[in-house]
Amino acid sequence: MRKKRVAILISGRGSNMAALIEAAKEPDYPAAIVLVVSNRPEAPGLARARDAGIDTAIVDHRKFGDDREAFERALDERFQAYQIDLLCLAGFMRLFTPAFVERWSGRMVNIHPSLLPQFKGLHTHRRALAAGAGRHGATVHFVVPEMDGGPIVAQDSVPVLEGDTEESLARRVLQLEHRLYPQALRLVAQGEATFASAAEAASPDKTAKQGRSQTKPPDATPGATRSG
Ligand code: GRF
Repeated sequence: MRKKRVAILISGRGSNMAALIEAAKEPDYPAAIVLVVSNRPEAPGLARARDAGIDTAIVDHRKFGDDREAFERALDERFQAYQIDLLCLAGFMRLFTPAFVERWSGRMVNIHPSLLPQFKGLHTHRRALAAGAGRHGATVHFVVPEMDGGPIVAQDSVPVLEGDTEESLARRVLQLEHRLYPQALRLVAQGEATFASAAEAASPDKTAKQGRSQTKPPDATPGATRSG
């Protein structure tokens, strides 16, 4: 089977990106990471990608002002040039318009550091500690217009330990993310996890189509920043 061509979108450190790049070195891995795109020129992950021999591109959202469609057109141009099949968001801190999400529906996944649907948004580790959660974790999900919504591809958890701080818990969850994301991308690239199958798993009594239409459209004027 032809390997799926993947672009990873980052805004910062890029440790999940690095984990995906590493996993994709396995000869039998069904995806090839062919491009890393950052919306921030200063993202440390860009150097890591270049060191790994991966092409990089910077599409600085600030250059487009409020014109999110123009930003997304610029992204799509890069994806077309590289014949991208799948997008992986890895600490990418921008929200997309519903039109962009629709174009990439079923072909775009994100990793979020919580056991979704718990703790959507920012500061998940702090909030898990404050809530007295016994376990905390990470989720890879297909992207829908609703931030941190979307059918779940894979999810795993770690125990919250006595004396955990936000930092210690974040470290433990991050290690988990680095295992989870490559596993999840494998499933998607092999076609074993699809938008429909993931939606159906979440709501077995409904058809995948209904599950999909349950996703709420974003507010009319959403902040364009996502929670990563
Ligand atoms: C990760 O915790 C990821 O779950 C979240 O943003 C963080 C990105 O970290 N979406 P890194 O850039 O992959 O190191």
